[in-house]
Formats: sequence, structure tokens, C-alpha cells
Amino acid sequence: MIKNRKDEHIAFAFKQGIRINRFDDVFLESTDLPEMSIEDIDLSTTFLGYDIPYPFYINAMTGGSLKATEINEFLSKLANHFNLPMVLGSQSIAIKDASWESSFKVARKHHNGLLISNVNPNFTLEQAKKAIQMVDSNGLSIHINLIQELSMAEGDRDFRLWNDNIKNIVSNIQVPVYVKQVGQGMSLQTVQKLKKLGVKAIDVSGKGGTSFIEIESNRSKTDYSYLESFSIETVDALLNLKDETELDIYASGGIRNPLDVIKALTLGAKAVGLSKWFLLLTELSMEEAIQRVEQFITDLKKIMLIVGKQNIKALKEVKYTVKS
Ligand code: FNR
Repeated sequence: MIKNRKDEHIAFAFKQGIRINRFDDVFLESTDLPEMSIEDIDLSTTFLGYDIPYPFYINAMTGGSLKATEINEFLSKLANHFNLPMVLGSQSIAIKDASWESSFKVARKHHNGLLISNVNPNFTLEQAKKAIQMVDSNGLSIHINLIQELSMAEGDRDFRLWNDNIKNIVSNIQVPVYVKQVGQGMSLQTVQKLKKLGVKAIDVSGKGGTSFIEIESNRSKTDYSYLESFSIETVDALLNLKDETELDIYASGGIRNPLDVIKALTLGAKAVGLSKWFLLLTELSMEEAIQRVEQFITDLKKIMLIVGKQNIKALKEVKYTVKS
């Protein structure tokens, strides 16, 4: 029997199938005459102001159990091999119980590159600073997961402090900060409020991949699937922000393959996060996982040739249509 909440999240996330999602409704214009070689393609971009070699990162997942420690060890080794940013799972458990710090610290032990802390908006500025110090991280993600909390029997019910905590953290912390959703997508209203709180970067993390409504429904044995009605597909969350100029926008949620990455970048994301895709790699040997990521990078370059663009910035010029 699985006892730990973190282990349940991992187990139920593994069980979810790969979904058909709105990335399939996005069609990019191609060319048969790209006028360049695959060697000319430059996949570099920026994440939270840092230069990164590829336009994708390992997105927030776990910490706080033995299984989570193993996953963080595996993924941090992979992140280090490719110099990918890695966003940690919520460090809340280790702030409450220091014996779980090692399940997060293991990532810093193996990864010399960008490591991003993860907290929820109940965290005060002091606690957020502790989360950063714990792993000597290069940035901070604050996850907003209202519907997940409400779908959990043991979840939060009082959200009065969220705005003030976000504002205080964003204006006083020394590392770059962004706010992320957890797979239900960020509404335009949420984004407008975050901007007023001083937030400069977001990950829309929309519907289309891992569903925490489904995971929490499974855990609590209560069907909350009707709450998916509030979820926003990643593609739609990005389209809603098409005219946004002040924020750095990152995307995640339902990224299944290199084409989804290119589509998200074309729709305005600066870099793209994958959780489930990397979670599945943890079942392989490190050698096989490295091969999969290498193939992923090569395939990103192939798609850049198909759309005839040499670098990530140029993707913004790709013409596209979206089926409604
Ligand atoms: C998550 N996610 C997540 N996000 C976060 O900010 N803090 C967290 O602790 C977790 N925990 C977590 C556990 C597991 C097992 C999974 C699969 C995911 C959410 C994650 O970062 C992302 O927003 C969603 O999973 C959507 O992306 P994918 O899975 O569709 O690529």
C-alpha cells in the first residue's frame, strides 16, 4: 500500500495516459526550402534571464519520499548531462520536516547547472529564502494550485495570504522568481492580478497532460472530474496572452513531443517545461534516458528545418492556424 502523498502523486501520474490535446489543433506553416543545414540550427534561449542551450526544462515534480529522492537523483544527473534547468517539486515538506531536506539536496549534489526552488504561496518570504538556501538554487517558482488544493481532502481552504506572500516574495527575494500553474492553466484574470503583484514571469502550465484533478480524485476517491471545466488548455492559455509584452512567458502542460515544444515556442513561450515526459524516463537506464533526450534535441532541430527557422526567436515569425 502507498502511504506517502508524494508517492501517491508519482504513482497516479505514471498511470495517466498520454492525452490528445489542443497542440494537435495547431498547424505550423512548413517550407521545403529551408536554405540551411541542421548544423546551423541554434536551440538556445533564456530561462529566468539565464542563457540555456535548449528551449526546454525539467519541470517541477517531487521531493519528500524515498521514491522522490531516487527520481530527483536520476533527473538531476540527466539535467547535469545536458545542462538543462531543473525545477524542484514543492519544498514545503522539507520546510516543515528537515529530515526531508536530503530528498531535494540530492538534486544540487548531482546538478551543477540551473536548479529552481519550488514553494506554494502559503510560504512567507523567510520560508522562501530557506527553500532557496536549502539547495543553493538559482531561481524560485511559486506554484498556484487552487483547484488541486480544493480537490484534496487534506488541502488548503484559506487563501487570504496568497497575494500578499507572492507580492512580498517577488519584491524582496534575490533570485529570479516566476509563478506557475500545475496543469490547469492560468486564466487571463489570474495573470492580470499577478502582474499587479509585481510578477514578471509565469509558466501557464495548462491542461493537456498531467491532471491533478484526476490524481486527487483518485486519492480521495471522490470524483472531481467536473472541475476540469475550469481548466485551460496550454495552447489556449498561450493564445490568451498573445498580446502580452511585459511578462516572460513559459509554457508547460501536455508537452508530449518535440513538435509540441516548437508549437509552444511559436505561440509565445520563451522555454517549455516537461514533467510527465521526464517522469517516464526515470524508468529507463541512464544511458537510455540520455539517448532519448539526445533524440529529442535532434528532432527539435529537424522541426526547425521544416518550419525554416534557424533560432528560437525566429519561431515567432512562423505562420500558424489553430482549429477552434
Ligand atoms: C507535479 N507538478 C508540480 N508542480 C509544482 O509546481 N510543484 C509540485 O510539487 C508538483 N508536483 C508534481 C508531481 C508530479 C508527479 C507531477 C507529474 C507533476 C506539476 C508539474 O510541474 C506540471 O505543471 C504539470 O505536471 C503539467 O505538466 P506535464 O506533466 O503535462 O508535462
